[in-house]
Amino acid sequence: MCGIVGYIGVNDTKDVLLTGLEKLEYRGYDSAGIATLNQEGVHLVKVNGRIAELREKIDPTIRATIGIGHTRWATHGKPSVSNSHPHQSVSGRFTLVHNGVIENYDEIREHYLNHVTLKSETDTEIIVQLIEVLFDQTQDVLAAFSQAMELLTGSYAIALLDQENPDLIYVAKNKSPLLVGLGENFNLVTSDAIATLKETDTYLEIEDQEIVLVERNQVMIQTLNGTVVERDPYVVEIDAGETEKGTYDHFMLKEIDQQPLMIRKIIQEYQDHTGKIKLDDHIREAMAEADRIYMIAAGTSYHAGLIGKQIIEKIAHIPVEVHIASEFSYQMPLLSEKPFFIYISQSGETADSRAVLVQTKALGHPALTLTNVSGSTLSREADFTLLLHAGPEIAVASTKAYTAQIAVLAILSIDVANQLGLPLDFDPLKELAVAASVMESLIDQKDMFKGMATDLFQTTRNAFFIGRNLDFSVAQEAALKLKEISYIQAEGFAGGELKHGTIALIEKGTPVIALSTQENVNLLIRGNIQEVLARGAKTAMISMSGLEKEHDTFVIPQVHPLLTPLVSVVPMQLLAYYAALQRGCDVDKPRNLAKSVTVE
Ligand code: F6R
Repeated sequence: MCGIVGYIGVNDTKDVLLTGLEKLEYRGYDSAGIATLNQEGVHLVKVNGRIAELREKIDPTIRATIGIGHTRWATHGKPSVSNSHPHQSVSGRFTLVHNGVIENYDEIREHYLNHVTLKSETDTEIIVQLIEVLFDQTQDVLAAFSQAMELLTGSYAIALLDQENPDLIYVAKNKSPLLVGLGENFNLVTSDAIATLKETDTYLEIEDQEIVLVERNQVMIQTLNGTVVERDPYVVEIDAGETEKGTYDHFMLKEIDQQPLMIRKIIQEYQDHTGKIKLDDHIREAMAEADRIYMIAAGTSYHAGLIGKQIIEKIAHIPVEVHIASEFSYQMPLLSEKPFFIYISQSGETADSRAVLVQTKALGHPALTLTNVSGSTLSREADFTLLLHAGPEIAVASTKAYTAQIAVLAILSIDVANQLGLPLDFDPLKELAVAASVMESLIDQKDMFKGMATDLFQTTRNAFFIGRNLDFSVAQEAALKLKEISYIQAEGFAGGELKHGTIALIEKGTPVIALSTQENVNLLIRGNIQEVLARGAKTAMISMSGLEKEHDTFVIPQVHPLLTPLVSVVPMQLLAYYAALQRGCDVDKPRNLAKSVTVE
């Protein structure tokens, strides 16, 4: 979490910093600040608010060609001006922004900084104070910077300005993402290339525990002990327009709408010229050899994993366990003899998932990452990667990444089934294309779901989504979507489980939304709806064509039974979107959240 931008060039830096930070707000938006440096010294502006407020507070007459900026998701210390970045050393010589968590900050404070009066409650401030203390001993900034990095444990992406040197930004990283962008007469640093695509499409990766010296016309990478590292840059293939809202009021709605097109793109990306599925041979072989698959993920990606499990088990006949990353790390189950790990992560940066990847790699188990971000940490560190091809997902609430994850898992399972010689009784790519068309038809009926959201959620404090089989997993995702953006307390429940306790919460007017897309449980879930109706619930039934009954609220056109989540989630996403809108919530930037969760 937190976003960093730094710029050194010949033009004024403010606009690059502010525009970049606006694009990084998905990483956190509790507070923000920038520091620019010119012949008069460092100009520091911080706000306990968003980038729009920061923009207003900045003096437009101050010009500088070097600067750093930060948008914060608070970990240590509440959101406030004093806790926001950049932080400065006691003398004011050093100014620093940081993304990550310093685990040994208490130790460092006690050991090195007991004579320093800290101005904030953050773990970040100790870094800049430590650099100054070490510099006072050596009078060598680079040596002090490297030494400080060696002393830190935890995660960090750091950019540092030295007031005495307007020609250099000191940069370092460990576990948290940071890239160097290369341009003509300028270079920059950024947490994510999408923030600075307007400036350049050419980037250099920084590896953990490297230091980078970023000048206007030169970038030098070195290890902590000073060995110079040569690395080729790469070109980012994202159209800058993809990171704009365009005619939409919110990224979330744009991203919901993009799903049918995205599914078609995924089909295209993963088929060969004969129309057959084509994946990396090594992935297929490694997975086919496994006696059990372990999927590791968080939040919405975990929910996609739950669907992926059903698809893989039914199509490829390999047992699958799906685990919440933050639990798996500290309570690893007994593993099978030949496990294969699949990490599902839109961002590819989720610290909880990465912690597991580090553990399972150390055990020597093969790992595949399914991610939307090529070059992301989880992608680089796993043996294999399958890209989601969803295009940048910017709204904090994940929508298109979920459906992309399910589609790619379906394709993967079919590829493995082919390898294992397991027969298929349907044409998988054709069925995915059908699902894309059905998604489209649902998206065309937005007004229907807008009305439904008004009816169900305008005043309620809580809501239930129920389903059985695959619909239960979609119900869990539906509840997460609703709660994270509308702040309505919502639960996704197995229809049959309600009567074992939770039904006590149903009272007059409690919204209960049921999904019925699976034939073998159609009558059972309808029975569950009767049970809550009898207790006064306000119900809605969304069923699949062929299973519908009179008075169902909405009937979804038929798709293959294993692919129903791709389509049944769309009404759920739209319901959450309209509920949040109608309740005046900040749809794209819900409170307390950030898109890329890089702390454990
Ligand atoms: C919910 C949401 C989160 C993420 C979770 C994992 O809408 O976006 O629950 O799914 O933080 O993130 P990734 O997929 O980037 O690992």
